[in-house]
Amino acid sequence: MPQQVRAVVAKAKGEPVSIETITIPDPGPFDVIVKVAACGVCHTDLHYREGGINDEFPFLLGHEASGVVESIGDAVTHVEIGDFVVLNWRAVCGECRACKRGKPWYCFDTHNASKKMTLDDGTELSPALGIGAFADKTLVHEGQCTKVNPDSDPAVVGLLGCGVMAGLGAAMNTGNVSRGDSVAVIGCGGVGDAAIAGARLAGATTIIAVDRDSGKLEWAKDLGATHTVDASSVDAVAAVQELTGGFGADVVIDAVGRPETWKQAFYARDLAGTVVLVGVPTPDMTLEMPLIDFFSRGGSLKSSWYGDCLPERDFPLLVDLYEQGRLPLEKFVTERIGLEDIEAAFEKMHKGTVLRSVVEL
Ligand SMILES: NC(=O)c1ccc[n+]([C@@H]2O[C@H](COP(=O)([O-])OP(=O)(O)OC[C@H]3O[C@@H](n4cnc5c(N)ncnc54)[C@H](O)[C@@H]3O)[C@@H](O)[C@H]2O)c1
Ligand SMILES: [Zn+2]
Ligand SMILES: [Zn+2]
Repeated sequence: MPQQVRAVVAKAKGEPVSIETITIPDPGPFDVIVKVAACGVCHTDLHYREGGINDEFPFLLGHEASGVVESIGDAVTHVEIGDFVVLNWRAVCGECRACKRGKPWYCFDTHNASKKMTLDDGTELSPALGIGAFADKTLVHEGQCTKVNPDSDPAVVGLLGCGVMAGLGAAMNTGNVSRGDSVAVIGCGGVGDAAIAGARLAGATTIIAVDRDSGKLEWAKDLGATHTVDASSVDAVAAVQELTGGFGADVVIDAVGRPETWKQAFYARDLAGTVVLVGVPTPDMTLEMPLIDFFSRGGSLKSSWYGDCLPERDFPLLVDLYEQGRLPLEKFVTERIGLEDIEAAFEKMHKGTVLRSVVEL
């Protein structure tokens, strides 16, 4: 039987979100209905609301979530009813050209639910990143569910579903940060701070946090930054160079995603170093730079989609590290809120007073 639940919907570009009653169809053969326990507010939700991702309104927002499997389709074998899972937006297909070449973290054909959730009038919803978890329940593909330790705090481990994984992975997977590296992270929100925590876990010895907001820099220190740079008052590139013997950092991670921050990342990097772009630019942004600089500085310029993670590999191990006290994931949860508080959470994200607001259901 299709069921009706509450959910947060962005109906039109730039307009405030609203709580609507949505209909969840019965799961298709490989689909799963998850009773959502918690879902973090990510900057990408705001990008969706502002039309920065695409125009497929109305969107069902929310995508960094954990919950319990409530019902499953006929062919589901990956999870069972009652499993505690973190939702992911990389259910690898195993069949596409990336998967077949042994690089499934690039999977070009990830699985989502086979059916659409709808508004009362039958309008089909576009779930953010194929998840849509600012809702009592949501419909996903079985591969979007990763079982983790059921004793963990749902609000904390749900964050692995997007921003925190993206940041950790930008450092540990895409940037391949290793022992003794110097790392600079531009933009210290949830994603950037996770990159800082990832750099620390990977053994980086110099970790420079760059932000325009001094409050954010305090959080960044708490998560492992060894130095901070307030980009509102000093030149970020010169400051990073100064802190790295005049050379620049081995790995610079842009967790903002704007032309000016990417350029800073490019020039704050040592020769043959690595730039990782994990912040998401909007379609109108362009970059103009001397081509000779790309050549003469060498190294590698990478983008990080979801921290190049493999949820089945990475989520359980990161939850274990968290449970062992080696990865302070709980520090990303600044506040616990209700479904009605999403707009206020966007506001706080803008003001920089939160790392993550997490909706608890
Ligand atoms: N690549 C991925 O898979 C992935 C996944 C999740 C989120 N993201 C993206 O990562 C980005 C960051 O997300 P978030 O949730 O941490 O956002 P956030 O808004 O919490 O944090 C952004 C931070 O950047 C700082 N900032 C903004 N402009 C700056 C500048 N010019 N110089 C220095 N600092 C600046 C802000 O003060 C803030 O601390 C967003 O673009 C988001 O869409 C990417
Ligand atoms: Zn694939
Ligand atoms: Zn996200």
